[in-house]
Formats: sequence, structure tokens, C-alpha cells
Amino acid sequence: MKRLAILASGSGSNAEKIMEYFQKSTKGEVALIASNKSDAYVLERAKKFGVPAFSFTRKEMEAGHLLKKLQEEGIDWVILAGFLLKIPEDLIQAFPDRMVNIHPALLPKYGGKGMYGMHVHEAVKAAGEKETGITIHLVNEHYDEGKIIFQAATTLEAQDSPEDIARKIHELEHRYFPEVIDSLL
Ligand code: GRF
Repeated sequence: MKRLAILASGSGSNAEKIMEYFQKSTKGEVALIASNKSDAYVLERAKKFGVPAFSFTRKEMEAGHLLKKLQEEGIDWVILAGFLLKIPEDLIQAFPDRMVNIHPALLPKYGGKGMYGMHVHEAVKAAGEKETGITIHLVNEHYDEGKIIFQAATTLEAQDSPEDIARKIHELEHRYFPEVIDSLL
């Protein structure tokens, strides 16, 4: 069984879908949930699924404690599901082609600095895009520029608000992220 760790900074709806999916899997298991926010709701979701969870500070991550923990736990894949800190290079290098991120837009558009959460949907709305979507990619030193593994698009109506766009994106994420991770194992 491949051992997955999920890093998340917020609500963790994607983390929940991944935990739910791998509960039935013989290929992989969610062995750990970690967050840089001690009050992140994702930690509550981990409790519900009986998955060990912990929080860490940016300083602890940059001092190598997160990497040490992932290695101690024999983690094979690191899944970023709404993780908002820049991953230290030594952590990326410890999981070559084994670190996956999901971005709520069709990269390379709407990627890069500051493009996360509602900022992405607001920018897509402001640009009058007729479609948007999700991108699941490997993480390398250049972050949102890692190898694209999967993309799915959804059409937008002129009257869609950024919140409507966020809802459409979450539906795509919840539908595809677990299966795409499974296909990588
Ligand atoms: C998702 O939209 C994901 O694309 C982005 O952060 C959001 C996380 O949502 N990276 P949740 O915490 O999984 O609900």
C-alpha cells in the first residue's frame, strides 16, 4: 500500500474526498494529514476518518521538521490540497515526481504568485472567461510549473459570480482529484 500524506491549510474538502476514496482502496492509504494552521478545519476532518493529523509552523517546516516526520512515517506521496505555503526545496527534492498539487484554474493561465482561492475565481470572472477548470500537476522547484497530469474544464455563464465559479471548481476537484491520485500510484 502506498502511504499518502495530505498537506492542507484550510477547510480540507478535497482532503475529505481523498480520505473517503482511499478508505476502500487496496493501492493506497491516507496515512497522515498535516496543516500549517492549528485551527484548520481539515484537522477535524482527519479526526472523523481516524487519520493521524498534526499542525506545524512555517519555521518548523523550513527547519526540516515536516520532512523528517514524512520520512519517519514512510510516506510515499505528498498531496497538496489547498496548501498555501511555498514548499522548501529540500522537501520537493525528497519526493521527486511524488508530490502532487491541485490548482483551481487551467494552468498556465491564472497561476503564480497570489493566485490562490477566491483570487483565482475573481481574476477569471474579471477577464470574462467563458470557461475555467482545474489542473492537477507534479510539484517542482518552480511550483505551478510542474508537469501537468490532468485538467478538466467547465463552462461559465456571464452571470456566474466568483462564488458560483468556486462551486463549479470544487465539484470538478471532488470528482477527479482522488481518481487522478489513484492513477498515479
Ligand atoms: C481548492 O480550490 C484547491 O484547488 C486550492 O485550494 C482549495 C482547497 O479547498 N488549491 P479545500 O480546502 O480542499 O476545501
